Amino acid sequence: MHGDSSAPAFPDVMAVLRQRTAEAHTRLENALELLSPDLSVSRYRDVLMRMHGFYDALEPRLDERLTGAGSPLPDWPSRRKVPLLRHDLRLLGVDEAALATLPRPRVPAVGDVAAAMGVLYVFEGATLGGRFIVRHVVTTAVPPAATTFFGSYGDEVGRRWSQARHAIRAWTAGEAARVESCAVTAAALFGALEAEFAR
Ligand code: HEM
Repeated sequence: MHGDSSAPAFPDVMAVLRQRTAEAHTRLENALELLSPDLSVSRYRDVLMRMHGFYDALEPRLDERLTGAGSPLPDWPSRRKVPLLRHDLRLLGVDEAALATLPRPRVPAVGDVAAAMGVLYVFEGATLGGRFIVRHVVTTAVPPAATTFFGSYGDEVGRRWSQARHAIRAWTAGEAARVESCAVTAAALFGALEAEFAR
């Protein structure tokens, strides 16, 4: 046999996802301004309200793809973040009626399970940065009780992230079209978030 037998037949989906979204991640991180020493309660509230628009629009799409028998991620229902966002926003004086009046963001379509995995990558990845965000936010005027969204999973962040990665890899293994659908959707969602926070 010739050639490099150690070369994978398909690129690792997690590497593809990171490559295609890393620059947008950095831009988004900067645009959010959550790590600013001058972070105000109103800025923090505004970020959560906009985030809520994305999760509220997309979590029902993930419900359609990831619940029921044969789900590629059976613990999906316990990963929904809308209840956490609403909890934090309520503490900051924003109720569900006020949220319902906000403009809806444009979000990517979730046409198949692989696309749902792309959204999952973005939403679950946000819990990794969330740890750093909480650490800073609690040093500001924001009430610490209003950090349950960015503090999702607490000490379980690493374990939940590895399970999500495992599910994404399992669903896309050896399936180039699935890798592509997953990566295109993740990149589109980062693009939509960037557009939202550029305003
Ligand atoms: C101030 C805001 C943010 C900071 C400081 C931040 C920071 C980080 C850090 C440090 C990691 C790597 C963690 C690790 O490897 O253990 C990470 C990963 C990630 N973050 Fe963020 N993040 C922020 C916002 C966001 C947002 C809003 C999203 C999406 C909604 C997001 C999506 C992701 C994703 C998908 C990953 C996984 C990257 C990969 O390894 O493939 N982040 N973030």
